[in-house]
Order: sequence, then C-alpha cells, then structure tokens
Amino acid sequence: MKKPQFVRKLFTTSRLLEFFTEKELSMQIGHSKEWWPIALLKELIDNSLDAAENINKPPEIQIVIAENYFSVEDNGPGIPDKVINRSLNYTVRVSDKSYYVSPTRGQLGNALKCVYAAPFVANGEIGKIEIVNGKKTYMIEVVLDRIDQKPKIKLNKLDEGNCKKVTVFYTDSAGLLLTPKVSNIYKTPMDAETLVKRYAIFNPHATFNLNGKTYEPSSTVWKKWLPTEPTSPHWYTPEQLKTLIAAYLSMDRDSEKTVREFIAEFRGLSGTTKQKEATDDAGLSGKRLCDLIVNNDIPLAPIEKLLMSLKKHSRQVKATSLGSIGEEHLKTRMMNDYHIAPNSFKYKKIAKIDEVTNLPHVIEIGFAIYDKDHEQNSRQVISGLNWSPTFDFLSEAKTMLFENHIEPQDPVCVVCHIARPKFEYTDKGKEQVCL
Ligand SMILES: Nc1ncnc2c1ncn2[C@@H]1O[C@H](COP(=O)(O)OP(=O)(O)OP(=O)(O)O)[C@@H](O)[C@H]1O
Ligand SMILES: [Mg+2]
Repeated sequence: MKKPQFVRKLFTTSRLLEFFTEKELSMQIGHSKEWWPIALLKELIDNSLDAAENINKPPEIQIVIAENYFSVEDNGPGIPDKVINRSLNYTVRVSDKSYYVSPTRGQLGNALKCVYAAPFVANGEIGKIEIVNGKKTYMIEVVLDRIDQKPKIKLNKLDEGNCKKVTVFYTDSAGLLLTPKVSNIYKTPMDAETLVKRYAIFNPHATFNLNGKTYEPSSTVWKKWLPTEPTSPHWYTPEQLKTLIAAYLSMDRDSEKTVREFIAEFRGLSGTTKQKEATDDAGLSGKRLCDLIVNNDIPLAPIEKLLMSLKKHSRQVKATSLGSIGEEHLKTRMMNDYHIAPNSFKYKKIAKIDEVTNLPHVIEIGFAIYDKDHEQNSRQVISGLNWSPTFDFLSEAKTMLFENHIEPQDPVCVVCHIARPKFEYTDKGKEQVCL
C-alpha cells in the first residue's frame, strides 16, 4: 500500500512579525525582555541628544518615570511629521544618520520601530506610545487583529502639542527606578538613575533631569563634533560612498543632482575650486549622480576613483576635532556621582588617526579609588561610545583592567570613552564593536 504523503503547507509570514514577537524583537533591540525598558529609554535619550545637537543647542533632556509609563522630552526640533509617518512602515528603515559615516549616537534607523513594538509585545494586548513634536500629538496604538493574527498599528493625530516628547506606556515602568541587586551570576538590567549618571559623565554640555533630580552641565559651550558638520571623505570606504550615493538615487532616481553638488556636502570641499579639481580628477566633471548608474547598479571602479580624488583634495580631520570630554569634567562627575577620592584620580587621553582604519579616534580613561567614606568592595567600569553609555563594558577596558590586575572586588572606578566616526557594531543594541 502506498504510504500517505505529508504535504507541507507553504506559510507566508508577515515581515511585521520581525518586530512583533519576543524572540525577534529581542534580536532587534539587542537585549532580552527584562532589558527592554532600559534599552528603549537609552534609545530615546540618544535620539534626544542627537536632535538637540542637530540644531546646535546644548541638550536639555527631561526624563520622567512613572508607574506605567516613561517619557523623554528634549529641546530639539521635534520628530518631523514625515519621519513619524514613515517610521510606522515596518518594511523600511528611517534614519538621517545611517548612510553617513559620522560620530552620531544613532546609526541603524530601527530604534523607533522597537519603541512602538515593545509595549505591545511585552503585555500582549495593547501598546501605546505618544509623540508630541512641537506642533502635533500622535497617539500610536498597537493592537492585535485576532482574525489576521497580526498586530495592527492605529495612528490618531491631534493638531496641538507644544513640547517635544516621546511617552512609552509600558507596564511596570517604575521598575526602572529600582536598583538591581548585584549578582555575579546573572546580569541584571541597569536602573534609570545609573543610566542617566552615565549620560551625564559623557555629555558635559547636556542637562539631564530624572524625576526632578537635575544633573547640571559643566559647560554648555563644550565642543564636540556635531551632527550638523559635514562628514569627511577620509572616513568612507568606497563601498560606504557607493551606498550613500545609491541612497540618494533611490530617493530620486532621475535626480538632476550633479556629482559636484554631491561632493560639496563633504568636509573640506565647500570651495568651488576644490570641487572642480576633485570632479575633474575623478573624470566626472559635468556628470550627474544618476550618470553613475550602469544596469541598475553603481560600479565600484568610478567610486574608488572619486573617493581617491576627494581624499586628495581635502585634508584628513584631526582626531581632536571629534572633541574630548576632558579631565576636569570626568573628575568632577566621578567625585559628585561616584564618590571617588580626588587625589587618586588619574586621566589619560589618546587622540590619533588609527593606522589600520585611517579613522581618527579619541580614547579617554579616568581611573580612581573610592573615597574612604564611600568604600565599595566592587569595581565599577563605565564605558561609552560616541557620548552614549554602553550597558556592558568595552573590550578595551577589559584588557586594561586585566593588564593592571584590577579584579572585580577591587574598590576602583574606571571610566572609558571612545569617540570615532564609525563603529562596526556587531549587535543591534550598539554595544559590541570591532575596534
Ligand atoms: N527626539 C527626536 N527629535 C527629532 N528627531 C528625532 C528624534 N528621535 C528620532 N528622530 C528622527 O527619527 C529618526 C529615526 O530614529 P531612530 O532612533 O529610529 O533611528 P536612528 O536614531 O537614526 O538610528 P538608531 O536606530 O541607531 O537609533 C532619526 O534618524 C531622526 O531623524
Ligand atoms: Mg536612534
């Protein structure tokens, strides 16, 4: 007798589910579910800092954590209407940072999508997020369509809203205020105060307020590389330049934008003579960006030639232009917030162009022993990349601690920060990098 054959059904899974199941969302956020509230809070603070810097304002960030919601308010321009609308489309990423090589805190263009999805996935019934952008109030609701077995996103708009704020209605948000018990076995999520203290240490120009407690800036005129500054050709690989050009062209395939107009947007190439020499050398004078398209692709060879020419006609950016947090600020914050003994404080800064990647970087390290009135029997390592704290500490810091025989039970506090135009993140949480 013929054996009955098992015929597999061909299932179609909505791309929406990439953000709407616990497993997938944990991958997008880069952390497991217990970490979601703190990881999302960090993404919102990163966005707020970048946004205020985008309009050259010293950032002022207000964070409120309540029983069942948390919110981040800033003095930036507000999330533009079109960004809010587009970010709700889960088939595309929306970012003003992702294709440029520059030291901004955000880079991937997926954080807002995680913010919308997480409250729903966490409670399984309804997720609510409110965005006020200075002109309008957007109420985003994520509910389950039980027939389609798919989450549905509803958007309600009100034509009023003065502040610039994102509120995430998240069950038991107040848990963000609880200091996790120190455990050597399990990694417990960080609490909001620890996170904000870390932001304060890496951002001398910013004011943070967490539920009424203010962390004052040490200098509102402190200088760092700003997202409004043009990016340097020296920071790009040919592939990255090609991807940037492709991104411009995919917005408008028949764009009349010339190669010369495109290169005028780079650091060191604002002068018309330089632009002319650079396009001539690349053999692209009079060409438009769309002329680079061959068979629906952009061949790499002319891009390599263009990049070589851009580098030849512009100067490499000095590492010091990225800005440094500085000894004074690190010491003051470590004294105020971490109770270190001032006399034990040591500071080291390395600012140079890396020989392998050719990228400028600034590494700063502050080291101190706790004040004897605040003795602690465990070391604390506070790491940051591009003015944003990481939850885990960097491999650079790990090596340094190991070489100096600093053990987990030693009463020392170490701060390590690296600024660089681009990190190759190996995870979506923007925590692990290849240095
Ligand atoms: N507080 C804010 N004020 C103004 N614009 C914002 C704010 N938050 C986000 N945006 C805009 O929304 C875009 C998308 O934000 P999102 O956090 O999803 O991506 P990103 O910051 O570019 O990259 P990443 O996913 O690495 O954080 C940003 O690129 C920015 O243009
Ligand atoms: Mg972001």
